Amino acid sequence: MSTALNTPSIADQFAAREADGPALILEGVGKKFGDSYAVRDVSFELEQGTFLTMLGPSGSGKSTTLNMIAGFLDPTEGTIRLRGRDITTLLPNKRAIGMVFQNYSLFPHLNVLRNVAFPLEVRGMKRREAAAKAAAALELVELGHRARAFPKELSGGQQQRVALARAIVFEPDLLLMDEPLGALDKRLRETMQISIKNIAEQLNSTVVFVTHDQEEALVMSDQIAIYNDGGIEQYGTSQDLYENPASIFVADFIGESNILRGQMSQGALAVGGQVFPIPTRSKGRISDGDRAAIIVRPEQVTLRSRHSRADTAQVKGPEVQGTVREVIYLGTAYRFYVSCDLGFEIEVRVRRHLPEGETRKGERVSVSWAPEDISLVPSDEA
Ligand SMILES: Nc1ncnc2c1ncn2[C@@H]1O[C@H](COP(=O)(O)OP(=O)(O)O)[C@@H](O)[C@H]1O
Ligand SMILES: [Mg+2]
Repeated sequence: MSTALNTPSIADQFAAREADGPALILEGVGKKFGDSYAVRDVSFELEQGTFLTMLGPSGSGKSTTLNMIAGFLDPTEGTIRLRGRDITTLLPNKRAIGMVFQNYSLFPHLNVLRNVAFPLEVRGMKRREAAAKAAAALELVELGHRARAFPKELSGGQQQRVALARAIVFEPDLLLMDEPLGALDKRLRETMQISIKNIAEQLNSTVVFVTHDQEEALVMSDQIAIYNDGGIEQYGTSQDLYENPASIFVADFIGESNILRGQMSQGALAVGGQVFPIPTRSKGRISDGDRAAIIVRPEQVTLRSRHSRADTAQVKGPEVQGTVREVIYLGTAYRFYVSCDLGFEIEVRVRRHLPEGETRKGERVSVSWAPEDISLVPSDEA
């Protein structure tokens, strides 16, 4: 009896083994169409329950990667593992993966309940049992009351909820979503972002989500993979990507940034005849003489004008003089565009209640930033 109590059941052992190690592993995955690579050398590991977003411009290889994970495309090279099992060439219907596309792809002749029950019925589940599970999945997406409706009687957002219920009804090991909110208007998209995130958390699902919308990626993700030209340019949390972008491309894609290109000289960056200190963490990463850029976020810039109070002007780096070219009121903040005498423009964000907010177009000002706040990245452009 004590043995029975102390020995984990087979189900527990299975659960424990499944919980071990990453849920999804991609290793050197590539896909060629004809002579050219649509996806090159993609590798990452996802822990169970992680929400990964692939973010990048159109044509950068996001859907191709997703379709290889789903099994709709065979990789030209590399390996894909799901819960420890090599699935690289396994048929899609053997993969236990749920998928949601941008066009809801519901069956028009089946009602909502039958649409959601469909994946269970093709897996051989009895119709009554499948209907009960489908009803539970519909409750989860808050559409229990529309079970008897047909897809065309539902709004776009509701149809996408049905598609989501259908993707999760068989408790897949992995949920893939390819721009699922792309067809919805902004308000509805924001509501759906939160509900998808909540449902994924509730089910502890591992999710790979594709979007080209950076805000959507920031709202939803635990991890973000920034795609550029068929490869992952940077992989990390939203905070990593925002605070430590590895390239101009990433800085440009996530958030707003001032990008100052120059040349490394004695461990600092020379731009337009002035030398800017670089963050300590970047020291030694780029050699003297090489081209590089500093990334300064608009909210990291200190603006000093005749309205500033001496004690609020916190100048922590070199000051650059300039003239305010434009002021934009954003409600909680002002955005200033400052034409600097050194020849570049700096965008500044100032909270509305600060005295600097009184500054107007045409006024002379100075801008500065703390070297530790900014990022240094390579630049091959002149
Ligand atoms: N079936 C295909 N045949 C040939 N080229 C393709 C095919 N599918 C995608 N591509 C190409 O692969 C690249 C990546 O496409 P895709 O993965 O759809 O990008 P994304 O989803 O990031 O917009 C694009 O250049 C696209 O034209
Ligand atoms: Mg795509």
